[in-house]
Amino acid sequence: MTEAARIALVEQMDADIATVAGKGFRVTPFDRSEALSDALGFTVDGGVWVKDETTQVGGSHKARHLATILLHLLTAEAMGLAPWTNVGDRPTLAIASCGNAAYAAATLAAAVRWPLRVFVPPHADPVVVVGLGELRAEIVECPRRESDPAGDPCMHRFREAVAEGAIPFTVQGTENIWCLDGGRTTGWEMAREFEEHVAGPPLDRLFVQVGAGTFAASTIAGFRMSGAMPRLHAVQTDSCAPLQRAFVKVHEVGGATAALSRWSECMWPWEDVGKSAADGILDDETYDWIPVVTAMEHGNGSPVVVSENHVREANELARATTGIAVSYTGTAGLAGLLATRNAIDPNERVAVIFSGISRLGS
Ligand SMILES: Cc1ncc(COP(=O)(O)O)c(C=O)c1O
Repeated sequence: MTEAARIALVEQMDADIATVAGKGFRVTPFDRSEALSDALGFTVDGGVWVKDETTQVGGSHKARHLATILLHLLTAEAMGLAPWTNVGDRPTLAIASCGNAAYAAATLAAAVRWPLRVFVPPHADPVVVVGLGELRAEIVECPRRESDPAGDPCMHRFREAVAEGAIPFTVQGTENIWCLDGGRTTGWEMAREFEEHVAGPPLDRLFVQVGAGTFAASTIAGFRMSGAMPRLHAVQTDSCAPLQRAFVKVHEVGGATAALSRWSECMWPWEDVGKSAADGILDDETYDWIPVVTAMEHGNGSPVVVSENHVREANELARATTGIAVSYTGTAGLAGLLATRNAIDPNERVAVIFSGISRLGS
């Protein structure tokens, strides 16, 4: 494909998305929040930088992960490399989600008129389900079956659909590794902003809320490509914290590289998932745990497990200081900063990413 043809394909996809979402992809704002930095006692040299992903297509960063999958598919189609020839014979896209990811997937699929099946739990937020229906997604409710192994029943049904020919249109790198490509753009944008527009030293730390781990894995990969790596803190709630358990196990088996061949000894579904206002990060398994643990191990970072009090306090503080209508899930990274604030020097530069507008549930 010529460069001009590639650019035209990207621009057409973005224009199609804009017709459904009201806007296309954008570089989202990333600024030092004076009010939040002051509230947390940082000096003028340090502070808290907030990336506002609530302004992205679909109201969260999830559409970034899916855009690269869709571009891959549209390119394969345009070049005659896809196994189908007629647009009407496109295999259905499939995703297991009942939150931001499902909404992003439905928006992108509707934009290019590609059929989408969304596997949701029986307790899915009715607001999201109605929104998905309006975007013409097919909803499949997934109660736990007696014969189901451990793990999320939505993931079981999703994997069955993929085994039968559906295309994984998903935000977990373990199910479709192309999603990690698009996720890196968050890290690129943050690193570039610091390189080009922020005087003084680079970022010291990055706190990222972690469910499947894909967001943290790809964001830090974006930073790595820029050469400036902040210390990564992967934040989970005490209702579901398989990543921290894995981090401990990885050390027992001799480090992240050794752990590659010992997956099941380090990562398995959290047995007793509790409740949290940050329900978007209650994935019982951190599917993309290996790159996250590796980045924390190599970059001197660490996992942080937060209480529900910190989850709620972070959201109140975020809204009060920045005015961003962000979900509890989307401020769980800030909860990690609150939980560790006393161990951080006030001259340090710290980043958080607010993602997921609050109207999409928590
Ligand atoms: C707003 C928001 N932030 C962060 C995450 C966590 O991303 P990941 O599941 O890739 O770890 C999610 C996942 O649902 C989310 O909705």
